[in-house]
Amino acid sequence: MLALIGVGRSVLAQGRRRLRYLPLARPVRVPLASLSTPGRARRFMAQGVSPPSAASPGEPVRVNGMVARVADGDDAPDRFRAVCVVCPHEQCDVDVVSPSDLDPLVVEEIGKVSDPVYLCPCHNSTFSMADGARLGGPAPRGLYQFRVTGVSGTYVEVGEVEEDVLLFF
Ligand code: FES
Repeated sequence: MLALIGVGRSVLAQGRRRLRYLPLARPVRVPLASLSTPGRARRFMAQGVSPPSAASPGEPVRVNGMVARVADGDDAPDRFRAVCVVCPHEQCDVDVVSPSDLDPLVVEEIGKVSDPVYLCPCHNSTFSMADGARLGGPAPRGLYQFRVTGVSGTYVEVGEVEEDVLLFF
Protein backbone atom coordinates (compact mmCIF):
# COMPACT_ATOMS: atom_id res chain seq x y z
CA MET A 1 0.00 0.00 0.00
CA LEU A 2 2.83 2.36 0.91
CA ALA A 3 4.43 1.81 -2.46
CA LEU A 4 1.21 2.40 -4.39
CA ILE A 5 0.41 5.68 -2.66
CA GLY A 6 3.94 6.89 -3.16
CA VAL A 7 4.13 5.93 -6.80
CA GLY A 8 0.88 7.73 -7.59
CA ARG A 9 1.92 10.91 -5.86
CA SER A 10 5.37 10.71 -7.33
CA VAL A 11 3.99 10.75 -10.84
CA LEU A 12 2.04 13.87 -10.02
CA ALA A 13 4.71 15.70 -8.07
CA GLN A 14 8.02 14.73 -9.60
CA GLY A 15 7.38 12.45 -12.52
CA ARG A 16 8.52 14.81 -15.22
CA ARG A 17 11.83 15.59 -13.59
CA ARG A 18 14.68 13.30 -14.57
CA LEU A 19 17.21 12.87 -11.79
CA ARG A 20 20.89 12.44 -12.47
CA TYR A 21 22.83 10.28 -10.02
CA LEU A 22 26.53 10.15 -9.22
CA PRO A 23 28.40 7.42 -7.32
CA LEU A 24 29.19 7.94 -3.65
CA ALA A 25 32.84 7.93 -2.64
CA ARG A 26 32.06 4.63 -0.93
CA PRO A 27 28.77 2.71 -0.96
CA VAL A 28 26.84 2.68 2.31
CA ARG A 29 25.71 -0.69 3.63
CA VAL A 30 22.73 -0.83 5.97
CA PRO A 31 21.86 -4.12 7.73
CA LEU A 32 18.99 -5.83 5.93
CA ALA A 33 17.63 -7.14 9.23
CA SER A 34 16.91 -3.57 10.34
CA LEU A 35 14.68 -3.02 7.29
CA SER A 36 12.45 -6.06 7.56
CA THR A 37 9.11 -4.22 7.75
CA PRO A 38 7.59 -1.64 5.38
CA GLY A 39 7.60 1.78 6.98
CA ARG A 40 10.74 1.18 9.01
CA ALA A 41 13.61 3.50 8.19
CA ARG A 42 17.23 3.59 9.17
CA ARG A 43 19.55 6.60 9.13
CA PHE A 44 22.98 6.55 7.50
CA MET A 45 25.79 8.93 6.68
CA ALA A 46 27.22 8.96 3.17
CA GLN A 47 30.11 10.70 1.52
CA GLY A 48 30.21 11.91 -2.05
CA VAL A 49 32.55 14.09 -4.08
CA SER A 50 31.54 17.41 -5.63
CA PRO A 51 31.34 17.02 -9.42
CA PRO A 52 33.39 18.92 -12.04
CA SER A 53 30.54 21.40 -12.52
CA ALA A 54 30.59 22.42 -8.82
CA ALA A 55 32.14 25.67 -7.64
CA SER A 56 34.78 23.60 -5.81
CA PRO A 57 35.11 20.31 -7.71
CA GLY A 58 36.57 17.21 -6.10
CA GLU A 59 35.66 18.22 -2.55
CA PRO A 60 34.20 15.68 -0.10
CA VAL A 61 30.48 16.19 0.56
CA ARG A 62 28.89 14.54 3.59
CA VAL A 63 25.17 13.76 3.29
CA ASN A 64 22.87 12.24 5.88
CA GLY A 65 20.24 9.91 4.54
CA MET A 66 17.53 7.52 5.50
CA VAL A 67 16.70 4.22 3.83
CA ALA A 68 13.37 2.47 4.26
CA ARG A 69 11.66 -0.65 3.06
CA VAL A 70 8.72 0.64 1.04
CA ALA A 71 7.11 -2.61 -0.06
CA ASP A 72 6.60 -6.15 1.14
CA GLY A 73 7.91 -9.07 -0.84
CA ASP A 74 11.39 -10.18 -1.69
CA ASP A 75 14.56 -8.19 -1.12
CA ALA A 76 14.89 -6.71 -4.60
CA PRO A 77 16.50 -3.25 -4.62
CA ASP A 78 13.25 -1.59 -5.67
CA ARG A 79 11.66 -2.67 -2.38
CA PHE A 80 13.83 -0.05 -0.69
CA ARG A 81 14.11 3.70 -1.06
CA ALA A 82 16.74 6.10 0.28
CA VAL A 83 16.44 9.86 0.65
CA CYS A 84 18.52 12.72 1.96
CA VAL A 85 17.14 13.82 5.34
CA VAL A 86 17.78 17.52 4.66
CA CYS A 87 14.55 19.38 3.91
CA PRO A 88 14.75 21.29 0.61
CA HIS A 89 13.00 24.28 2.20
CA GLU A 90 15.47 25.60 4.78
CA GLN A 91 17.59 22.54 5.49
CA CYS A 92 16.15 21.19 8.75
CA ASP A 93 16.38 17.41 9.11
CA VAL A 94 13.20 15.47 8.47
CA ASP A 95 12.12 12.52 10.56
CA VAL A 96 9.70 9.62 10.17
CA VAL A 97 6.27 10.21 11.69
CA SER A 98 3.44 7.70 11.94
CA PRO A 99 -0.05 8.75 10.77
CA SER A 100 -1.39 8.82 14.34
CA ASP A 101 1.25 11.36 15.37
CA LEU A 102 0.61 13.87 12.57
CA ASP A 103 -0.66 17.31 13.51
CA PRO A 104 -4.32 17.75 12.46
CA LEU A 105 -3.35 20.78 10.37
CA VAL A 106 -0.90 18.63 8.42
CA VAL A 107 -3.58 15.98 7.88
CA GLU A 108 -5.94 18.70 6.68
CA GLU A 109 -3.38 19.70 4.04
CA ILE A 110 -2.18 16.32 2.80
CA GLY A 111 -5.26 14.25 3.52
CA LYS A 112 -5.51 11.18 5.68
CA VAL A 113 -2.58 8.81 5.27
CA SER A 114 -2.24 5.24 6.43
CA ASP A 115 1.54 4.94 6.18
CA PRO A 116 4.37 6.83 7.88
CA VAL A 117 5.66 9.98 6.19
CA TYR A 118 8.78 12.09 6.42
CA LEU A 119 7.98 15.29 8.33
CA CYS A 120 10.13 18.39 8.65
CA PRO A 121 9.71 19.77 12.19
CA CYS A 122 10.55 23.35 11.21
CA HIS A 123 7.60 24.28 8.96
CA ASN A 124 5.74 20.96 8.58
CA SER A 125 6.68 20.03 5.04
CA THR A 126 5.76 16.40 4.48
CA PHE A 127 7.16 13.86 2.06
CA SER A 128 6.18 10.38 0.96
CA MET A 129 8.26 7.66 2.51
CA ALA A 130 7.78 5.61 -0.64
CA ASP A 131 9.76 7.97 -2.85
CA GLY A 132 10.46 11.26 -1.05
CA ALA A 133 7.89 13.18 -3.11
CA ARG A 134 6.56 16.37 -1.53
CA LEU A 135 3.09 15.94 -0.05
CA GLY A 136 2.60 19.34 1.56
CA GLY A 137 4.18 22.36 3.23
CA PRO A 138 6.52 25.05 1.92
CA ALA A 139 9.29 22.80 0.55
CA PRO A 140 9.79 23.59 -3.14
CA ARG A 141 10.39 19.98 -4.15
CA GLY A 142 10.62 16.44 -2.83
CA LEU A 143 13.52 15.13 -0.79
CA TYR A 144 16.82 14.66 -2.59
CA GLN A 145 17.35 11.05 -3.54
CA PHE A 146 19.88 8.33 -3.09
CA ARG A 147 19.79 5.22 -5.24
CA VAL A 148 19.72 1.74 -3.74
CA THR A 149 22.21 -0.10 -5.91
CA GLY A 150 22.01 -3.59 -4.49
CA VAL A 151 20.80 -5.93 -1.77
CA SER A 152 22.76 -8.88 -0.45
CA GLY A 153 21.67 -11.51 2.05
CA THR A 154 22.72 -9.24 4.90
CA TYR A 155 22.69 -5.61 3.78
CA VAL A 156 21.10 -2.98 1.58
CA GLU A 157 23.63 -1.02 -0.44
CA VAL A 158 23.16 2.68 -1.20
CA GLY A 159 25.69 3.55 -3.87
CA GLU A 160 24.59 6.71 -5.68
CA VAL A 161 23.20 10.12 -4.85
CA GLU A 162 21.34 12.77 -6.80
CA GLU A 163 23.83 15.11 -8.44
CA ASP A 164 22.12 18.23 -7.05
CA VAL A 165 23.06 17.15 -3.53
CA LEU A 166 26.73 17.23 -4.45
CA LEU A 167 26.35 20.60 -6.15
CA PHE A 168 24.40 22.49 -3.53
CA PHE A 169 25.23 20.97 -0.14
S1 FES B 1 12.89 23.73 6.71
FE1 FES B 1 11.60 22.07 6.28
S2 FES B 1 9.67 22.96 5.98
FE2 FES B 1 10.96 24.62 6.36
